[in-house]
Amino acid sequence: MERLDKILSNYGGLTRSDAKQALKAGRVKVNGAVIKDPAVKAAETDEVTLDGKQLVLSKYRYFMLNKPAGYISSTEPEPGDMSPNVISLFKNEGVKGLFPVGRLDKDTTGLLIVTNDGEIGHRLTAPGKHVDKTYVAKVKGELNDSAVEAFAAGFEFKEFTSAPAVLEIIETGLDSDGGECAVAKVTIHEGKFHQVKRMFQKVGCEVAELKRISMGALNLDETLKPGEYRELKPEELKNIMP
Ligand code: URA
Repeated sequence: MERLDKILSNYGGLTRSDAKQALKAGRVKVNGAVIKDPAVKAAETDEVTLDGKQLVLSKYRYFMLNKPAGYISSTEPEPGDMSPNVISLFKNEGVKGLFPVGRLDKDTTGLLIVTNDGEIGHRLTAPGKHVDKTYVAKVKGELNDSAVEAFAAGFEFKEFTSAPAVLEIIETGLDSDGGECAVAKVTIHEGKFHQVKRMFQKVGCEVAELKRISMGALNLDETLKPGEYRELKPEELKNIMP
């Protein structure tokens, strides 16, 4: 049980004094009833709303973000790169300590889990805890059955050999310059630096666009536009808990 002014500042992103004002103004309800006293306590199981929006009374928060292109997910950006960080998209949540689980390149879009639960972040990305990740890639160059076989056989890189990956060619064609191009789905087992781009390079293709669509049992909610996010549903969270 926590006091309502504390709940509003911890989970509603308000300062303590804004929380008191909000209560006084009748903007806060507990289980449907307007409460104005900041000292009233509520439990995690209570429904606390601020301006009609329910607050999530949990210390740990788990979000699914459809990462937009142009945002960095690394905490150590390239020197001189002033691009915004994905965490800036969560500024209205008022949650401290959010970080992305794993990384996507600046130009990669799609599924990124963002949380303040260091334990789950660590467990999902720790070496040896490989979660399959599926991407849709638009590539320049020719993709054919020998590429499918090469992905399945694995590639030798400087620092590792890739585990068998599943490449599914969805479409092939010609781009506006008359060059070969293709759309493919690829599922990889590790998550090394630029891994998908490097795998396509091995078969003579260049990735023009890359989007992550799933991580383990978690699929990107396609109703989320780039830059939008939502809380993970309890069953989604259960499915990704290592
Ligand atoms: N592989 C890449 O090359 N880039 C990403 O962002 C993710 C996987």
